[in-house]
Amino acid sequence: GYEHFMLKEIHDQPKAVRDTFGTHISEDGKTVIFDELNWTADDVAAFNKILIVACGTAYHAGEVGKVAIEKLAKIPVITDIASEFRYNDPFIDENTLVILISQSGETADTLAALRESKNKGAKILAVTNVVGSSIAREADKVIYTLAGPEIAVASTKAYISQLVTVIMLALDFAKKLGTIEDSEYSKYIEELKTMPEKIDETLKSESITERIAEAIKEDKSMFFIGRGLDFLSVKEGALKLKEISYIHTEAFP
Ligand code: F6R
Repeated sequence: GYEHFMLKEIHDQPKAVRDTFGTHISEDGKTVIFDELNWTADDVAAFNKILIVACGTAYHAGEVGKVAIEKLAKIPVITDIASEFRYNDPFIDENTLVILISQSGETADTLAALRESKNKGAKILAVTNVVGSSIAREADKVIYTLAGPEIAVASTKAYISQLVTVIMLALDFAKKLGTIEDSEYSKYIEELKTMPEKIDETLKSESITERIAEAIKEDKSMFFIGRGLDFLSVKEGALKLKEISYIHTEAFP
């Protein structure tokens, strides 16, 4: 029903968010639950720091995860691009949690980072979209993003479900560590519930998007500018446009 897979997957985003959120929320819709982790408050308190390692789009989701975890759960988080990670000799010990994010679960650099972290004794958590992938199999714990198969090269619906996952993880850690007020916790959950509808609403303005694309398609260079979390979003926007159109793009804070 769509001209190409990327367009279909963009339209799958409300469902991807709804499904990812739905599996990690209690029946009464009030509490974040990660049954697959089975971590107690003491387990989470034992993490002296967290490393989030990934490539490309998954890395951009990881950067949002850093902001969310540091802000809500007050655990220091370092992000690293997987292809650089192994040359950086990172400080890792048995109290370090390393989170690998990967849509496919097969990216060689991310898998190498997982193995290196494991050798150094870290706890390994994978966030991936593909059941039984290499990264899922080698990790200690796995959270599956429920975006459904992503066929297009450019990641869209997987990215948004990675965002939902890392934000929910931050909420779960924060609740366990007592670093978040109940009212704030509930506020985030209520906001997350409204996301699918908001994405639907945004997708309705497709004709405007088409008009803008038509107007700028011959331009040689595009700059994406944002502040704070928006800077992280524009990095992803710049990557997406460049990989799809081959137009030079750059993101600026
Ligand atoms: C961007 C894109 C790539 C991937 C990167 C990591 O749209 O598709 O940048 O995000 O290659 O891939 P995964 O998440 O499968 O490890």
